[in-house]
Amino acid sequence: MSVRPQIKLAPSILAADMGRLADAVREVAELGADRIHIDVMDGIFVPNITFGPIVVKWLRPVTRLPLEVHLMIDRPERYLEDFAKAGADTLIVHQEGALHLNRTIQAIRALGKKAGVAINPATPAGALEEVLADIDLVLAMTVNPGFGGQAFIASTLGKIAKLRRTIDDSGLDCELEVDGGVDADTIGAVVDAGARVLVAGSAIFGAPGGPRAGIAALHSRLG
Ligand code: DX5
Ligand code: ZN
Repeated sequence: MSVRPQIKLAPSILAADMGRLADAVREVAELGADRIHIDVMDGIFVPNITFGPIVVKWLRPVTRLPLEVHLMIDRPERYLEDFAKAGADTLIVHQEGALHLNRTIQAIRALGKKAGVAINPATPAGALEEVLADIDLVLAMTVNPGFGGQAFIASTLGKIAKLRRTIDDSGLDCELEVDGGVDADTIGAVVDAGARVLVAGSAIFGAPGGPRAGIAALHSRLG
């Protein structure tokens, strides 16, 4: 009998109703979400603008769940301290946006936070070779960052499998998370490829039956 590995769900609040953001976070927490994914965009690294540290600050007392902040911003080292002080538990920077990635990872550690590194669909797994042992989480983008509700890019699956092998073969304590286009149709493939933490925005907050139905639909595909 094959046993499914334990999968964690990270609802992305990008798809939530911003007029009732705190309620949306409380709702998914009650439905068993494992962490809250906060998409920070600066209009430069990606063509969209979203949240700053103040949103993290206001969400911090709303839930005990870890808050992971996905920094889709240019030169993220400028804002690490602000997001750490605001209450983030994990700071995820993009490999493509951090000029001195090793230094940025050290800066996250010095703030006492978990360090994650994201890679865009076009960035190879090998770009993380020199930092994998130093980070807590790899975020493999399965869409081009910038917007919710985009179609899953299936060509990223090989890279996810490669990252899984590298992490396992080296015995690294590094989570493998995927972000973008994860829904009931794609969840099986990303888990089979080796992802263990799944970000989902539209599939949860945009589900026609609401987050409860959305999370149930995702779980139903995990068997
Ligand atoms: C995209 C963001 C994602 C986004 C995912 O740039 O990083 O976290 O919210 O949204 P869905 O799940 O709708 O693809
Ligand atoms: Zn994200």
